Amino acid sequence: MPPLITIERHIIEQQRQHPEATGTFTQILQDMALAAKIIAREARRAGLINILGSTDSVNASGEVQQKLDIFADQTIFKMNDHTGRLCVMASEEHEDILPIPPQFPCGRYALVFDPLDGSGNPDVNASIGTIFAMFRKVSFGARGDLSDVLQAGREIAAAGYIVYGPSTMMVYSTGQGVHGFTLDSSLGEFILSHPNMQIAPSPRYYGTNHGNERYWTLGVRKYVDWLQAKEEPQRKPLDARYMGALVADFHRILLKGGVYLYPGNLQNPAQPSGKLRLIYECAPLAYLIEQAGGYASDGLGNILDIQPHTLHQRVPLFIGDKTLVQQAERFIQAHDAEWIASYRAMREAVR
Ligand code: F6P
Ligand code: MN
Repeated sequence: MPPLITIERHIIEQQRQHPEATGTFTQILQDMALAAKIIAREARRAGLINILGSTDSVNASGEVQQKLDIFADQTIFKMNDHTGRLCVMASEEHEDILPIPPQFPCGRYALVFDPLDGSGNPDVNASIGTIFAMFRKVSFGARGDLSDVLQAGREIAAAGYIVYGPSTMMVYSTGQGVHGFTLDSSLGEFILSHPNMQIAPSPRYYGTNHGNERYWTLGVRKYVDWLQAKEEPQRKPLDARYMGALVADFHRILLKGGVYLYPGNLQNPAQPSGKLRLIYECAPLAYLIEQAGGYASDGLGNILDIQPHTLHQRVPLFIGDKTLVQQAERFIQAHDAEWIASYRAMREAVR
């Protein structure tokens, strides 16, 4: 019988490859796995215990918060606030950084998370997710500050996501490949199901919100036409899939190959840089896709190289198959000079 590799065992075995490791890192990942199990349980029961639907509060990005968002946010915070492993946290649901409460000690890592991605989906019993990343503490003070979470994706020490679908999966990387685990709910354990994940080599799908098409720049339009092979009848078009939950859309692209895009747009003043957040969504997934042999770009260059200047900064996202993402960059370079200039100016302005 092949060994049953739980996520705990996998994380510990990865840690052994680094004799200098203290185990702190390992324990944070295990805490995230436990938080994931709690959120998965709540998401499953959500319809039953009537916690679905909106609350009156609005999150830092101006979206109406769902009750499950609050539950997931608090679960992750409380799982990590007292352990002495973190110096600060930041959540997509909060305007400002989340300091470690003064009664608890601080540690050497910072945690950023999108607690419940795709927050419209629970109402229709569709997949949702959690995204997270860890950075090493860079601030000098004892308790951590904004600089610990305003780090470029290149500095990520570990990242992962959880997708709550027909089954719950946790996918993580500490820079030694990407590994996927499926929750066996009878055991209550995440079991290694997808070791050493690499993006599928032949692209099958593209994912984007076509409702925004009228706002797209010429380069993006021409790129999507190219994905659909509109002008090349001999080439097979990619099929379109869109779940409306970045984690679920990304997971499909990783497993089946292809590209996900949420472009920026100047004609829609609400979304000049797209919708997705650099720190909580784009950088962690960019780190994972690079580990899986793919690439993530904002249309101009590597997402991992973007230095964030504000916590809720948004960036356009093109992520997945390296060749397809590079092709998006080519279309944008060729057709979107005006957009490029404005986007660059916007990025400078938030410095
Ligand atoms: O977190 C933002 C988010 O909910 C993503 O999960 C999702 O991919 C995206 O928004 C959907 O945006 P839209 O409704 O504009 O397609
Ligand atoms: Mn999200």
